[in-house]
Amino acid sequence: MNRVLSGIKPTGQLTLGNYLGALKHFKKFQDAGEVFVFIADLHALTLPIEPETLRTNTRDLVAFYLASGLDPKRATIFLQSHVSAHSELNTIFQNYLYMGELSRMTQYKDLSYKMNNNAIGLGLFAYPVLMAADILLYDAAIVPVGDDQIQHVELARDLVNRFNKRYGDILVMPKAQVNKVGARIMSLSDPMRKMSKSDSKGDIFLKDDLATIRKKIMASVTDSGSEVIYDLDNKPGISNLLTIYAATKDISIAEAEKYFSGYRYGDFKKAVADAVIEELSPFKERYEQIIQGDEIEKVLKDGASRARIIAEATLKRVKNAIGLLDVK
Ligand code: TYM
Repeated sequence: MNRVLSGIKPTGQLTLGNYLGALKHFKKFQDAGEVFVFIADLHALTLPIEPETLRTNTRDLVAFYLASGLDPKRATIFLQSHVSAHSELNTIFQNYLYMGELSRMTQYKDLSYKMNNNAIGLGLFAYPVLMAADILLYDAAIVPVGDDQIQHVELARDLVNRFNKRYGDILVMPKAQVNKVGARIMSLSDPMRKMSKSDSKGDIFLKDDLATIRKKIMASVTDSGSEVIYDLDNKPGISNLLTIYAATKDISIAEAEKYFSGYRYGDFKKAVADAVIEELSPFKERYEQIIQGDEIEKVLKDGASRARIIAEATLKRVKNAIGLLDVK
């Protein structure tokens, strides 16, 4: 089986990083196999969020999925909270992942550090448990994600090994699929920091208008020297722009570097801005149409009923395996 599953959290505004690292790639899998793409709305609760913001972000994300070319007939698009098997399997899996390994997760360490003295919810700590449930419920073989989620998928793999060793061949082993180019897009104002939904400076949001996107790219940090070359140590800003260009155009970094040899920084930035705008402009138009239409609810309803069939079958298999009594 070649099932593909991925998800995005509706926590903040989607960035160019989310687009190039994940979203853009989902549709490629539609023809080859079964694709499940969901909105991790329960995961969005792991950091404080206003109810209205969560609702808006969730609808936005469905519209972005559709605008990216996902076809709801071929891809199952649904909300995590609409399929209760996620929460049930989460409860079971809590007993098969350990506090020590959860406390070593980079995302947990980063986010809990950012929380400063605020209370850190148990959900943030246990984030990868629910994520393992998300993946394993669908017997997913391939999980397309950006760089920062590899560690969580690895933990889901550890869980499969642990679980299957004890109960037999019950869970399917997933594998993270990370693109060579664009798996880690950095901030335009601080290329040592990942572009993320919670930081507005230097991050391109998919909802930014085209003029703002151009302005942010033109204002990106300029490294010393004048040559456009990929050199992470000495030219992190230029290297990030080369990555953005290459990921946008689906070419390698070497090809992008060759193309820009002899360019000055200013013209290079302009070309990167042109490429990003050319890519995002039709995408944003489709988003605008979808968000104003009435397709979203129907897509989510259909998606949830399709997802439930697969998820409930897996949950039943797991419950039987561990000895939870089934009565007819
Ligand atoms: P999230 O919502 O943080 O990010 C969604 C996807 O975007 C990728 N990404 C990036 N890629 C390149 N450069 C960046 N700067 C960048 N920032 C984010 C992420 O790697 C991700 O692929 N835990 C997940 C949601 C989730 C999930 C799952 C994913 C929940 N359950 C099961 C896959 C399978 C998350 O928070 O992604």
